[in-house]
Formats: sequence, structure tokens, C-alpha cells
Amino acid sequence: MSDVAVLGLGAMGSALAGALLDGGHAVTVWNRTVDRAAPLVARGASAVATAADALRAAPVAVVCLTNDAAVREILAGAPGTTLVNLTNSTPEQDRNLADWAAGQQMTYLGGGIMAVPPMIGTPAASVFYSGDADALERHRGLLERFGRVDYVGADPGRAAVLDLALLTAMYGMFGGFLHAAALIRAGGLPVVGVEPAITAWLTAMAGALPEMAAAIDSGDHSETTSAVRMQALAYPHLLEASRESGLRTALVEPMGDLLSRAVAAGHGDADLSVLADLLRDGRVPSMDSDGEETSDEQPT
Ligand SMILES: NC(=O)c1ccc[n+]([C@@H]2O[C@H](COP(=O)([O-])OP(=O)(O)OC[C@H]3O[C@@H](n4cnc5c(N)ncnc54)[C@H](OP(=O)(O)O)[C@@H]3O)[C@@H](O)[C@H]2O)c1
Repeated sequence: MSDVAVLGLGAMGSALAGALLDGGHAVTVWNRTVDRAAPLVARGASAVATAADALRAAPVAVVCLTNDAAVREILAGAPGTTLVNLTNSTPEQDRNLADWAAGQQMTYLGGGIMAVPPMIGTPAASVFYSGDADALERHRGLLERFGRVDYVGADPGRAAVLDLALLTAMYGMFGGFLHAAALIRAGGLPVVGVEPAITAWLTAMAGALPEMAAAIDSGDHSETTSAVRMQALAYPHLLEASRESGLRTALVEPMGDLLSRAVAAGHGDADLSVLADLLRDGRVPSMDSDGEETSDEQPT
């Protein structure tokens, strides 16, 4: 028996297996495309021919494939094995897989990796885990090889909730940056010259997040110096400037739309944090292209 098996040796799986080898563990590896195991075998890993062999080769198996469909294709029952699924998944996919694992007498931990491959094994990496708490404690020493272990609860889908929430925030930031970069280029400037100002601005604005989080949890959005009404009036300028420059506005239109809907729904004096409530409850009115309210149906 090895200490641990790693199934899936793409960019992330290879980094995970490498961190385990660096930690002195006996590692069994499996990958659909056999050649990808070679660099890890050269570092001391044992390669096996099938996913089923890998799942039986160690008390804990770390799976890191493209998506849930791929995981479903390769999984085989291995009673007694703890399955640690670090594949990006939805909460429901993790819960279904945990049910499947329980039916195979396997224990299950869902995970969400908050790192890119070069960060694995460094203090900058962290991984959310949820599911079987005893299994997590049994294998904590191994899992700490990847980065900080953040156990977030018994619901096997909880790690995916947090993983996807953090990714959502990240894509919002990258989406904003990419549109800003296109606007800067259209204005005849190099992006590198403006990037430091963007980074400084985003860092300053991130300082508002603790207060916004508290407002969203409490439902009290009354404290603000930048009311929704003011923002709804200013926002169209960035859309207009983008259209004047011939840019696609797909990345930035939804926020403007939601601001207008929030004003129409009577939240003009509220803080921007109120938009989270409106998204959650579907309480925003539908509007026509002139900004006139047409119905109170949930927007699509
Ligand atoms: N890379 C990142 O920055 C990063 C960060 C956080 C989380 N993640 C997550 O980590 C997971 C893996 O990402 P990655 O970067 O390692 O991707 P990747 O480099 O594209 O590797 C994908 C892996 O999945 C395997 N695979 C895909 N379809 C398969 C199938 N039908 N049957 C068997 N194996 C299959 C591939 O095998 P072959 O080699 O045979 O194609 C390969 O081992 C994803 O869920 C990703 O969202 C990645």
C-alpha cells in the first residue's frame, strides 16, 4: 500500500502529487494519458494502469480531473478508501458523489483549491474541505502538504459553495479589469501605464467589503456615502464611453441594469450592498429598454 493515491495528473494533479512526494510520502499515481505520469515516476511515484487500481492502492485517494463528468467516468468502488475530490464541482455534484461513496463503503471529502499549481505546497495555498470530519483529521498530515487546510463543515457540498463564491468574486474583478483594459487601449493608452492606478483603486475599494458583508448579513443597507441612486446615474457614462469606442459591453451591462432596477424598486438611498439582497430574492422589477418598469416578475 502507498500512503496516498493521486488520480488525474494535469497541471493541478501533478502539482498535488509533487507536493506529496516532496513531503516524503509513498504516492501511487494514475492518469488517463499514461505519459503524464513519467515525471512523477522519475521522482519516486508508482504508476498503476487503471483508476480502480489507484483507488485500491492507498487508504486515501485524491482525485483532480477536469470536471464531475470525468470523475464519474473513472470512479470505481474501493471499500474503506477515503475519496478526496479536489475537482472543481458544484455543491450538488459533491453531495451526489458523497452519497455514491457512502454506498461503496467509502468516506468522502469534497474540496476546493484556492491556488494555482505553482502555489501548491507553499504557504500561499489553501484548500476548502467539507464532508467527513474524522477522515479529514485522519489524513490532515497529508492534506497539509498542499497548503492550509480549511475544514468548513459536514455538508460535502459546502467546500464547493465557498470555492465557487471566491471564484465568482475573482471573475468579477478580472472581468472589470479586462473591460477597463479595453477602454484604456481604445483611449490610446498602454494598459501597463494605468495598471498601478487600477490595482491601487481595487485595493482601496476592497476595504469596503467588511462593511458590505455586515450589511448583507444584517439586511440593513442604510449606511452609505455612495447611494445606489448616485451610482445608477454615473454608471451609464462608462457604458456610453465604451459604445463610443466600439467596445462590446457584455461584461459591464448587467451591473448597470441591476442598479436601475434597484432604483425602480425603491432602493435609491441604499448602499450598493442592497444588490445582493435583490439578486437573492428576485425582488427586482423588469424594465423595458427606456428604463420603465414593466412588471415585477423576476428578471432572467
Ligand atoms: N490549474 C489551475 O489553476 C486550477 C486551480 C484550482 C483548481 N483547479 C481545478 O483542478 C482540476 C484539474 O485542473 P487542471 O489544471 O489539472 O486541468 P488539466 O491540466 O486540463 O488536467 C485535466 C486532467 O483531467 C483528466 N481528464 C479529463 N477528462 C477525463 C476523462 N474523461 N477521463 C479521465 N481523465 C480525464 C486529464 O487527463 P489527460 O491527461 O488524459 O487528458 C488530466 O489529468 C479542475 O477541476 C480545475 O478546475 C485548477
